[in-house]
Amino acid sequence: IEQALFDDPTQPPVVRYYVPFIGSMVEFGMDPIGFMRKHREQHGDFFTFLMFGRKMTVCLGSRGNDFLFNAKHSCVTAEDAYNNLTKPVFGADVVYDVPNSVLMEQKRIVKAGLSTKSFQRYVPMIIKETNDYIDKHWTKDEDTIDIFKAISELIIMSASRTLLGKEIRAQLYEGVADLYHTLDSSFTPIHFLFEWLPLPSYFSAPKAHAELESIFAKVIKARRLETNRESVDMLDVFLTSKYKDGTALTDLQATNMCIALLMAGQHTSAATTTWALLNLANQDNVRNGAYNDMKRAMGEDLPYPEFENLKDLQTLDDIVRETLRIHPPIVQVLRKVVKPIPIPESSHIIPAGNYLMASPVIAATDKAHFQDPETFKPSRWSQQDEAAEVEAEDKNSENTVNYGWGDMSLNSAKSPYLPFGAGRHRCIGEQFAYIQIKTILYVLLKRFDFKLDEKRGMPKSDYNSMVVLPEAPVSCRYIRRK
Ligand code: HEM
Repeated sequence: IEQALFDDPTQPPVVRYYVPFIGSMVEFGMDPIGFMRKHREQHGDFFTFLMFGRKMTVCLGSRGNDFLFNAKHSCVTAEDAYNNLTKPVFGADVVYDVPNSVLMEQKRIVKAGLSTKSFQRYVPMIIKETNDYIDKHWTKDEDTIDIFKAISELIIMSASRTLLGKEIRAQLYEGVADLYHTLDSSFTPIHFLFEWLPLPSYFSAPKAHAELESIFAKVIKARRLETNRESVDMLDVFLTSKYKDGTALTDLQATNMCIALLMAGQHTSAATTTWALLNLANQDNVRNGAYNDMKRAMGEDLPYPEFENLKDLQTLDDIVRETLRIHPPIVQVLRKVVKPIPIPESSHIIPAGNYLMASPVIAATDKAHFQDPETFKPSRWSQQDEAAEVEAEDKNSENTVNYGWGDMSLNSAKSPYLPFGAGRHRCIGEQFAYIQIKTILYVLLKRFDFKLDEKRGMPKSDYNSMVVLPEAPVSCRYIRRK
């Protein structure tokens, strides 16, 4: 069967391997980015490799991104690729455990809940969570700490407080965080590859999920008894929203949507904030530039920002954007082919049963699109914004923002910069993530200066979870500002 794969001229080229069945799993697992870059040079934007009996067709560059993100749902689905992995974590009846049309409605409900009004409420909450944590844990004038651990706590506390509400936040350290952690441990590539293997988490995850459900059930019951309750968080939004056909979300769906949102944002935002801070700690000029820009935007004594001020913090914006270019937390976007699909402008057809894998980081770090692509240079974004403004003025057009990529705008699936994906499965948490990350960075930089731990330097990337994290322990030095 495997030889037939190599000989089939209708299919994309196949990466050679030596161990049947296992295929290229080891080479890919050790360094997925290096693997994709290397074989792209040899085979082009589309090629297939074997991994534990699965045929993975890699789709790279702007062409590959566009192909995967915009593929017709009748041919290519996310739910067939992800649900085995996500159902034990998110629970039943949400996201990939419902037909795609229902997911689209669930995403619409979330979007409506992430409104300007809610962001205005969330920013002071994120500031308070950050300050409370620092006051409790960063008590010295100077110390070297595991920064990823600290930031992960800041993200889970502020996301729980804002999205899930004050009752769940209050119980975070009375068991809820441990239950999340148990669920989280079944979110690894091993679980994607060995769905038939009885791994320990297959027993612990349902138990943890059931416990979380009962905690939420009590909160929901109490909220339902309140008359004229004002909607203040995402849980309220789920409890009061309706699908198009007029039916309401069940309590279990409301619970599981909350869990899914928290999980979708936790490691992604924690990794991004950590890499951003490490890069700041590593480059004095970037860090000082960000600090001075905060003063320019907010005033010498750096008052705490409100939601409306965040858009003026341009340098922090550039820093997050540049972090997501070089260190996007999601480097493998997966789909399953359910009906054979031809690759445009090629004679190849990808058969049903193959998985598709896009990796937007490959285009985002390709010198064809970005000068000096491996260098962390946040200023490249404001320079491009200025160039785009001039160009837009020249063209006298309001909606043409040209980032120097021909007709590819930041929102097009053809853009080489897609850390939040594109198309029907595009992230709905982008704005929330920017708000959370920029607010946390502002508070940290206002109160502390940061230096990289010289002995350890910048950490490597750890590819052992579905979200790429900095390799532990991630040490960094904080120095309290006088
Ligand atoms: C989807 C990245 C934060 C909720 C996605 C996708 C990417 C992504 C690449 C597309 C996945 C695919 O096409 O298979 C990120 C990054 C984040 C982040 C880089 C932070 C820096 C968040 C947050 C939330 C969230 C904070 C929730 C508040 C979602 C949801 C989807 C999604 C619900 C849709 C899944 C679908 O339609 O299949 N995200 N995300 N994300 N993200 Fe995010």
